[in-house]
Amino acid sequence: ERPVTLTELAKMRTEQRKIAMLTAYDASFAALLERSGVDVILVGDSLGNVLQGHGSTLPVTIEQMVYHTQCVARGCKRPMIIADMPFGSYQESPAQAFRNAALLMAAGAHMVKLEGGAYMAETVRFLVERGIPVCAHIGLTPQAVNQLGGYRVQGRTEESARRLKDDALALEAAGAALVVLEMVPATLASEVSAALKSMATIGIGAGKDTDGQVLVLHDLLGVFPGKKARFVRNFMDGASSIEQAVTNYVVAVKDGSFPAAEHVY
Ligand code: KIV
Ligand code: NA
Repeated sequence: ERPVTLTELAKMRTEQRKIAMLTAYDASFAALLERSGVDVILVGDSLGNVLQGHGSTLPVTIEQMVYHTQCVARGCKRPMIIADMPFGSYQESPAQAFRNAALLMAAGAHMVKLEGGAYMAETVRFLVERGIPVCAHIGLTPQAVNQLGGYRVQGRTEESARRLKDDALALEAAGAALVVLEMVPATLASEVSAALKSMATIGIGAGKDTDGQVLVLHDLLGVFPGKKARFVRNFMDGASSIEQAVTNYVVAVKDGSFPAAEHVY
């Protein structure tokens, strides 16, 4: 099967075929996700929580992201690999962002993801113009948890909803190919997805009307010991193997049965 490219993702968006994205941090799971039909593997800085046991993603370093990206890249061929830029590796300047994004691309990523709205547009454009595809991330941005006052739903007020929409449009204009919408009301995520012309939306706790879905692997498998968010579904329920659980996730994303009403804000 041909590797998933930017062109293929754009085609999936226009043909309204849902994009199934899931995190992985090592070669064995990357291979399993590939066999299960996952389109995009995110080497997320959620590894700070689910692998390292931290209470936030803030301690994750660029060296750790490079290492896990290399591990994932050795395990699969077809999925697009997106690597998270960790806290402190891109906020300083576009030049700093490029230097660190280049390390992730050399490690095997095909795209990098960074958190932030319109104020990151200049950096997004700087990377895209220099050959590095970008996935943006707005709504609940975990690296800003201290500023946001906790892991809570974003875009509930009229003003914050308008800001989120403006952020999405600015990031699209800057050339971002994808945007993760995390923990926002389903109606807002639906409106944002409809307002965009080319950037595909990937939801997590953002309802079913986005162009794709993402979950953290350990949440999907029910192995993360912490409190589980409303948007999480344990796909091991009713599955006889990990591979079947991941396949069931892909099928549920593709046929629109995940997320259901109970996972939505
Ligand atoms: O780090 C991560 O796993 C993420 C997803 C939750 C979108 O950023
Ligand atoms: Na992340």
